[in-house]
Amino acid sequence: MKFFADTADVDAIRELNELGLVDGVTTNPSLVKKSGRDIIEVTREICSFIDGPVSAEVIATEAEAMIAEGRKLAGIAPNIAVKVPLTLDGLKACKVLTDEGKMVNVTLCFSANQALLAAKAGATFISPFIGRLDDMGIDGMDLIAEIRQIYDNYGFETQILAASIRSVNHAKAAALIGADVMTAPPSVITAMAGHPLTDKGLAAFLKDAAEAGLKIL
Ligand code: E4P
Repeated sequence: MKFFADTADVDAIRELNELGLVDGVTTNPSLVKKSGRDIIEVTREICSFIDGPVSAEVIATEAEAMIAEGRKLAGIAPNIAVKVPLTLDGLKACKVLTDEGKMVNVTLCFSANQALLAAKAGATFISPFIGRLDDMGIDGMDLIAEIRQIYDNYGFETQILAASIRSVNHAKAAALIGADVMTAPPSVITAMAGHPLTDKGLAAFLKDAAEAGLKIL
């Protein structure tokens, strides 16, 4: 499973990257707003040290304008994945940009039928939003499972990018179902390392090491 950092915070991406935990990055207009930076400038900086796919989202809503924005975003670096919303215009833009050889991430997916359309439009990634479905009392993981089954039934190569991941339990469930990628805030990814028994065991080892006067260096 690939891990994408779901943030436009360059320092947070660098920190996570030093742990070897960044296979790519996803941004959206809200995350760019939070960073307080210009979209082109921050995307360029992320691409300067991340080799994997970096998603940058269009803000137009009509296909032709999305395509123009997508071309500009894709011009920032070869590893840009142009993010388009799952609307009919977005699907049209997806097909055109895909045919030009660009990576496309179709975002704001909330149903299996939407994911099926994105695959037929040639999307590189489909981004089903788990947390936002959970917020409505719908189990977002059921959607990941449905998309996995449909894509496997027909051999679609579109990668399932589990998005809107809010917890370590979301991360585990997406991995068990077989999502190709998950994108999560860096705080969720680092939280995956935590376990109280690890902390308890380490404290006991350190106590014994100190009592025995052990030295390595
Ligand atoms: C990533 O591509 C999405 O934009 C992001 O995961 C949305 O997460 P949120 O629902 O927590 O805002």
